[in-house]
Amino acid sequence: MVEIKEIEKSFGRLNVLKGVSVSIPSGKVVAVLGPNGSGKTTLIKCILGLVIPDSGNIIIGNDNVKNSWSYRKNIGYLPQIARFPENLTVNELFRMIQDLRKGYANIAEAERCKEELVSVFNIQSFLNKHLRSLSGGTRQKVNVILSLMFDPDLFIFDEPTVGLDPISCVRFKENILKQKEKGKTIVLTTHILSEVDEMADEIIFLLEGKIYYKGSPDELKLQQQEATLERAIARLLEKNDNKINNQLPGKNN
Ligand SMILES: Nc1ncnc2c1ncn2[C@@H]1O[C@H](COP(=O)(O)OP(=O)(O)OP(=O)(O)O)[C@@H](O)[C@H]1O
Ligand SMILES: [Mg+2]
Repeated sequence: MVEIKEIEKSFGRLNVLKGVSVSIPSGKVVAVLGPNGSGKTTLIKCILGLVIPDSGNIIIGNDNVKNSWSYRKNIGYLPQIARFPENLTVNELFRMIQDLRKGYANIAEAERCKEELVSVFNIQSFLNKHLRSLSGGTRQKVNVILSLMFDPDLFIFDEPTVGLDPISCVRFKENILKQKEKGKTIVLTTHILSEVDEMADEIIFLLEGKIYYKGSPDELKLQQQEATLERAIARLLEKNDNKINNQLPGKNN
């Protein structure tokens, strides 16, 4: 569904993505992992056309992301930091986004889906409250609903469960697995590895601008001979640290 080919992106002298190539298959949950600052959000924004790569190509379905925007109508995106006008109420925000998507999405179906999600995430009592008055977790629930309600084929979630209480996290994960059953493609970033274990078919681990590991969570655990994903990733990173330390001047190797 998404073909990422040799993407390079620098901000000034900082080389964030150094030739990233990966193919994201349809109908799978793919987790983009990596330490803070490793380029996860940058890669996601390249897929969305919100960051323009210095070189390389991204193909979604039959569309090259370069100079194209219509492919975006088929994406549900949850940004890492979502900012909407604070003076809107939750209902006004839902209506505004529906207005923006009019012509590209089935609005009656989106409205039905939104009502179901409002009840799933239990935010009925906040619908007429201004965004500025909401708690961080409630805002995140609103953002999650906005990303899910238009029934696109591709979902991109940048740290979706940050701030969500345990019940809402469970509801979110259930929803994602339901979307996967429907054949949707899901790309997400998270630092919560239990979520990856529960949901992801595939991990793309970014480190120092490159894909350091790609494969399933089970393959990684097997490869590193660890029972948990957390330990497997820690071991993977330890090996990288050792490699870097051994390359430092003064080391005899
Ligand atoms: N618009 C920008 N201008 C300058 N530097 C940027 C910009 N966007 C990102 N960066 C830098 O690029 C690097 C990668 O940032 P990015 O947000 O992609 O990381 P991330 O992997 O999503 O991290 P986190 O886990 O903290 O969300 C960071 O060093 C960041 O400061
Ligand atoms: Mg990020």
